[in-house]
Amino acid sequence: MSSDKPLIHHIYDGIEEHDNNLPNWWLFLLWTTLVFGAGYWFWYHVAELSPGQLGEYAAESAEHAQRMASNTPASDELLLKLVKDPTSLDSGKAVFQANCAACHGAQGQGLIGPNLTDGFWLHGAAPMAIHKVVADGAVAKGMPAWERTLGAERVKAVTAYVLTLKGTNAPGGKAPQGEAEKP
Ligand code: HEC
Repeated sequence: MSSDKPLIHHIYDGIEEHDNNLPNWWLFLLWTTLVFGAGYWFWYHVAELSPGQLGEYAAESAEHAQRMASNTPASDELLLKLVKDPTSLDSGKAVFQANCAACHGAQGQGLIGPNLTDGFWLHGAAPMAIHKVVADGAVAKGMPAWERTLGAERVKAVTAYVLTLKGTNAPGGKAPQGEAEKP
């Protein structure tokens, strides 16, 4: 590469060394890297605007713990917790519309099966009492057992959804059956 710049004094065996400027593409890379590095350091390590590797690890661990918790057996506490979990309720509602609405009505107001919105219960009002009748059914009375068809997770989700129907007294509901839930 030739240059207008003066030669510096290295000439040896006809090999000349010129005092060239660094090429612009090279300077561009250098400065971009420096600016990026400074920005990265500031973003992740000073201002901590996004989680760094440790933060991502912590988030993944938490997600894992939650997934493990979803494998925990049903209990009153767990079911009441699912009642507050919008994702679980959405899936519970979908399960209900697909599998239960035919007998209990789209609002749970009761058709062949009893009204689930009126506060009266044949098999008990407690979360685990409802879970039991959904999981094991009341087969002789026409309520299928769902644990084997739906699996434990969906039975928990649909039970939590049924808990949200309690006391909604859907209009046009079937007459109460069983005992009133004690307050
Ligand atoms: C084939 C019709 C049918 C389907 C489908 C059905 N049920 Fe039932 N269900 C019944 C009948 C009938 C009863 C009343 C059983 C009895 O008299 O003991 C009942 C009872 C219940 C009870 C107890 C109500 C009480 O008063 O104690 C719950 C809770 C319930 N069903 C939830 C569900 C859920 C959730 C689904 C869907 C996963 C579902 N059922 C699907 C017919 C059905």
